[in-house]
Amino acid sequence: MKKAFILAISCICILISCTEPQKKEVVIKYAEEPHSFAQPNNAVITHLNLDVDVNFDAQVISGTANYNIANNGASEIILDAKYLEIEEVKADGENTPFTLGDMDKNLGQPLIIAIEENTKQIAITYKTTAKTEALQWLNAQQTADKTNPFLFTQGQAILTRTWIPIQDSPQIRITYDATVKVPENLMAVMSAENPKEKAADGIYHFKMVQPIPAYLIALAIGDIEYKAISNRTGVYAEKSMLKKVHAEFSDMEKMVLAAENLYGAYDWDQFDIIVLPPSFPFGGMENPRLTFATPTVIAGDKSLTSLVAHELAHSWSGNLVTNATWNDFWLNEGFTVYFEIRIMEALYGKERANMLALIGRQDLDDELEALKDNPNDTKLKLNLKGRNPDDGMNSIAYDKGYLFLRTLEEKVGREKMDAFLKAYFKKNAFSTTNTEDFNDYLHTNLLEKNNISFNTEEWIYKPGVPENAAIIQSDAFANVEKTLQAFIDTKEIDATTTKEWTPQEWVHFVRNFPKDITAEQMQQLDDAFNFTASTNSYISMVWFEQSILNGYHGHEVDAKISEFLNTVGRRWYVTTLFRAFKNADRIEDGLTIYKTARANYHSVTANTVDELLGYHN
Ligand code: BES
Ligand code: ZN
Repeated sequence: MKKAFILAISCICILISCTEPQKKEVVIKYAEEPHSFAQPNNAVITHLNLDVDVNFDAQVISGTANYNIANNGASEIILDAKYLEIEEVKADGENTPFTLGDMDKNLGQPLIIAIEENTKQIAITYKTTAKTEALQWLNAQQTADKTNPFLFTQGQAILTRTWIPIQDSPQIRITYDATVKVPENLMAVMSAENPKEKAADGIYHFKMVQPIPAYLIALAIGDIEYKAISNRTGVYAEKSMLKKVHAEFSDMEKMVLAAENLYGAYDWDQFDIIVLPPSFPFGGMENPRLTFATPTVIAGDKSLTSLVAHELAHSWSGNLVTNATWNDFWLNEGFTVYFEIRIMEALYGKERANMLALIGRQDLDDELEALKDNPNDTKLKLNLKGRNPDDGMNSIAYDKGYLFLRTLEEKVGREKMDAFLKAYFKKNAFSTTNTEDFNDYLHTNLLEKNNISFNTEEWIYKPGVPENAAIIQSDAFANVEKTLQAFIDTKEIDATTTKEWTPQEWVHFVRNFPKDITAEQMQQLDDAFNFTASTNSYISMVWFEQSILNGYHGHEVDAKISEFLNTVGRRWYVTTLFRAFKNADRIEDGLTIYKTARANYHSVTANTVDELLGYHN
């Protein structure tokens, strides 16, 4: 396999040097990338200097993206652009011809710019348009404080090209500087060195000295404030949220220390979190130095802060060592879930870690069931060529990826596992790796070295879950299952057993209702435990799902579901509930809610739900 690859590369080199003898010999540094038009082996961007103005009234970002480039003797450089208006392009200060190629609905357009052999810089003057997929412009009503508008970007997987023309491949890393002009009462923050106070003139300067792939460039603008937790961790939020957010995330520094203790120094200087308005489409997004997070994790009791551990873990798996292509997405997410659960174990003990692992195991079984007609999408190594990467990025990467690493850990022992992972992160720091490289490295440095045999190839390249999967046990969850069964059998619940339950135990309880649970039984549980009025978003979500699936309408749950779907845009929550409407043969009820809720969703959530409900905008 490896030999064939080297052979292929030397052939490409020979071919290039034969057919285009005037060019320098091209060193193939970047592998083929199915989701970018860039040809980085010919000419690649190395640094971005972004200078933009953010106009909330027109909902447009406009300005100039200035790039330093490394040219390998090419006469053009190709960037990715989607739904952008390109006004002018300069090469080393002089106007230069450019063309926008055919539009692909997933990838957008190649922006082909003429350059000279010695061109050092290109400057693209451009504007975003109403079709932009990365940006969500929010009015004051959609924020916590309800007095000022808000804007945030979401780059992963291939959306950065809808707000900056760029070589949008995870293999290509750049440093960046930015000057961003915003309305005077708002603060701008990026995945970079950030301000801690508002600038009187609304002009913010940013510097990102660690090289990152395009999908990690991020910007948020709103009426936000900063509150430090330690000298390298802290939170940004709107005023009315700041205290709660600060209390919820007060273990951030401890998490960083635990993470460093496992896999080496935190390489990004600062670790802050910004809590965004509730339409943010993800639980969290690991933008370097500044994780973006949903307010739905602010439960008041730190019960949902594994999200912080997860996004922090990406500072190693994902941001430091990046998946080379979206087909290798499990290298980002599976490693991160493994690392997340290790951090949680270090802070809060094995029982909490195993609860998380078991919830993931149940998610995995649900996903395998949902994908039973698409077994290829249950492989760790994906083939997303020709597809929107978003479609193939399901929980397999997370939960099967986790289970693989946990099974491996149990086979080799923790000590060897940790030494191996630490060395792996160190070796690949600020670089990319693909599944094959990882597999080679694993064989050489862990398995062969210790004379251990393991069915790695089955885990990576075959659908489903191999038979040797680790068995995860949680006494707490076993007790929850017993309590649930006793309720089904006797119609009674002994409140002393549930008194100390954590939200995870409640989630496990609700998720595991028998398929034939009746509306009367749900009413009885709701009377006893107030599920409909829960203030924990995770419990609400699984309770609402069961209510929809089982025809339960008590305690005004329908109104609560509608309210939830009209405020929260977190894709996982939203799709779970709309899928429940569909599976309960109540798609019309789902559509009635969706017609008003959709306007509040970021494009990644709206696109997923459009498809799920067969909705045409
Ligand atoms: N990087 C992901 C979010 C993402 C994935 C964005 C794919 C775009 C494409 C982030 O780290 C993540 O996994 N978020 C999870 C939270 C987590 C605790 C599992 C989420 O949003 O639910
Ligand atoms: Zn993640």
